Amino acid sequence: MKLFVGIRNLAQIRSQDEKIVSGSAMNILPNINNAWLSVKNGRIEDFGPESELKKEDFKNYEIIDVEGRSILPTYVDSHTHLVFAAWREKEFEDRINGLSYEEIANRGGGILNSARQLTNMSEDNLYEDAKLRLNKLIQLGTGGIEIKSGYGLSLEAELKMLRVIKRLKQTSPIPIKATFLGAHALPEAYKGRVDAYVEHVIRDILPKVVEEELADYIDLFCEKGYFNLDHCKAILDAGNLHGMRGKVHVNQFNILGGVQACVERNALSVDHLEEFNNQDLQALSLGNTLAVALPSCSFFLSLPYTPARTIIDAGLPLVLATDFNPGSTPSGNMNFVLSLACLKMNMTPNEAINASTLNGAAALELNNELGSITIGKRANFIVTNPIESLALIPYHFGGPVIDSVYINGEIFEA
Ligand code: NIG
Ligand code: FE
Repeated sequence: MKLFVGIRNLAQIRSQDEKIVSGSAMNILPNINNAWLSVKNGRIEDFGPESELKKEDFKNYEIIDVEGRSILPTYVDSHTHLVFAAWREKEFEDRINGLSYEEIANRGGGILNSARQLTNMSEDNLYEDAKLRLNKLIQLGTGGIEIKSGYGLSLEAELKMLRVIKRLKQTSPIPIKATFLGAHALPEAYKGRVDAYVEHVIRDILPKVVEEELADYIDLFCEKGYFNLDHCKAILDAGNLHGMRGKVHVNQFNILGGVQACVERNALSVDHLEEFNNQDLQALSLGNTLAVALPSCSFFLSLPYTPARTIIDAGLPLVLATDFNPGSTPSGNMNFVLSLACLKMNMTPNEAINASTLNGAAALELNNELGSITIGKRANFIVTNPIESLALIPYHFGGPVIDSVYINGEIFEA
């Protein structure tokens, strides 16, 4: 049991029935200045203003004076490809030398490059590497995460990846959700036979994923040159039959109508949305599907940024995540995502914090557990450096802003 005192700003305080923040409410971040917070059994037990603290109620508690630092809930990163075999810095150099992401993919690089490397790596090695990466992300403030398959692209390799994610779920102190992304790219063995591969994903791989309980959600890359709208519908329908909602890569380079198809199929989220039109906005306003922006991907590939203002100003919720992967986003740093959201998408610091905490948790259906300072939720929170205002988190882009991270009420040391 711990009692935290000396908190300059205890931020993102919500009641258990506030599940998500939308529209203009995203600019409000409820907080208490000069606060205390108690933790019991890994959960937030209580909190309040220090002027009302009755210290005698906390006799057996370890007292931690954070000396004017602030506390906010950990980020929830709802879109990552954390399990992979190798970085792809050669492709980074190729892009600097003039090739596009598309040209690299067409030469057999990109996702297929990652798939070749993953096939040759053992499950144990994949697990060890991913675990190290995950621990670094927790130190950067991530306290809940989604991890996708999609660098397997064969029955064996997809299951291998998903088993690695399952092991991470069992051993990591933070909640993890797994997403089956069998239709990430067309594997070499199916060249020219994309319909047959989609059928293989649905008929052969998905049932095994279900049988071994390896995934919570389903995904595909709905994009020109990858998988089309019919594939999108078929894969989402197949997932829904097994209770796996969609979390889908759509509108990264082209609009194929995937947003509407996802909303109609009650997908949990549509992710990327660098390209976005009025019909997409209409569709999102009518459904329960969340928009997830991945500004680090736009930054790294020099793509347009998701039009956050259009989405928020229409009264909708917006979610921020990293897209951590070796091809388009080799960074899982949520602090930098917040900076980009403010600098490139015109979001306010409050909007960025809401989008990456409570709304991130909603995008993983973890908002009963994570995303806010709420009695009963997991004691997963960030202690900032001694800063005057939380706006300094996005302001100091790339700079150190975190003093320590607590996970289940314990300081996290990898
Ligand atoms: O979200 N767009 C598809 N998938 C990933 C990139 C994967 C890769 O290049 O390895 C993304 O950007
Ligand atoms: Fe992605």
